[in-house]
Amino acid sequence: MKKIAVLTSGGDAAGMNAAIRAVVRNGISDGLEVWGVSHGFRGLIEGRMRVLNRRDVGGIIQHGGTMLGSARCPEFKTEEGRDRAIRELHSRGIEGVVVIGGNGSQTGAASLDAAGFPVVGVASTIDNDLYGSDITIGADTALSVALESIDRLKITASSHNRVSLVEVMGRDCGYIGLMTAIAGGAEAFAIPERPTDVDAIARVISDAYKCGKSHAIVVVAEGADYNATALAAEIKKRNPNVGFDLRVTILGHVQRGGNPGVCDRLLGTRFGAEAADLCAAGKSGVLVGLRDGRICHTPFAEVLAGKKTLDPSLLELADELAR
Ligand code: F6P
Repeated sequence: MKKIAVLTSGGDAAGMNAAIRAVVRNGISDGLEVWGVSHGFRGLIEGRMRVLNRRDVGGIIQHGGTMLGSARCPEFKTEEGRDRAIRELHSRGIEGVVVIGGNGSQTGAASLDAAGFPVVGVASTIDNDLYGSDITIGADTALSVALESIDRLKITASSHNRVSLVEVMGRDCGYIGLMTAIAGGAEAFAIPERPTDVDAIARVISDAYKCGKSHAIVVVAEGADYNATALAAEIKKRNPNVGFDLRVTILGHVQRGGNPGVCDRLLGTRFGAEAADLCAAGKSGVLVGLRDGRICHTPFAEVLAGKKTLDPSLLELADELAR
């Protein structure tokens, strides 16, 4: 390949800019011309792309979000949408695309690749639910943001002797919830991977009160069978005498903001550089990820067929500590 394009798609994730920068700079070093596409697959369909040089990606590695913009694009799921995108790429002589994103984005990447247009994927989502990479760009920073919020909530919860129910993102994956519960020292947590035992959580809260704790933290992953508001209401309904007063905080998109930490800057840089190298070598049809600390490539078919699961030993650890 001599000309490639790079795009970011789906939910933005801190570290995407590091990946864009590495695709561009490593791509240029490999002799490629690199185009940046605005707002993901939508920009591809609408032909919104331009050549990027080394300076265009200067000063972005420390910033969260994505300098290219991102989008969710239902039209790209249609054959017509993909054909339009391919026509836009062909008209510029572009021979390959690097797609930086999570599950939905890599599904789009795979469909473009299957339609005959070479694509290399880069694993990026705060949810860390993408098969083919132990860790994805943005997950670590999102965890740090969630933890900082929990540390703050503990302060006010302690002052008022309250329970803070904190809802974190993650779609239908409990990774952020579980890791936040462990690292945030939560008393209880609810995740989509198992049914929420409301009475058990109420018991934990009540025990915390009785043994003189000043507060309790309950982490609720957004995909759990009760959201944080519903869980608080259910606890109050079933057990009006848990001791503490309850308050709900929904962190939401706050977790997607913030500047990337060192892990996401390094991960984005390593993934992006690898993706450019693969394109320069004429390879495609794979997702760039990390396995056992090393860069790996997983064919799209395997990525889409696979399901990433939570580490059962971490689940056990969280249960053990959350008391
Ligand atoms: O996939 C990342 C994510 O932040 C999920 O955790 C969340 O469910 C979703 O995106 C929110 O999507 P949107 O930004 O479109 O509201």
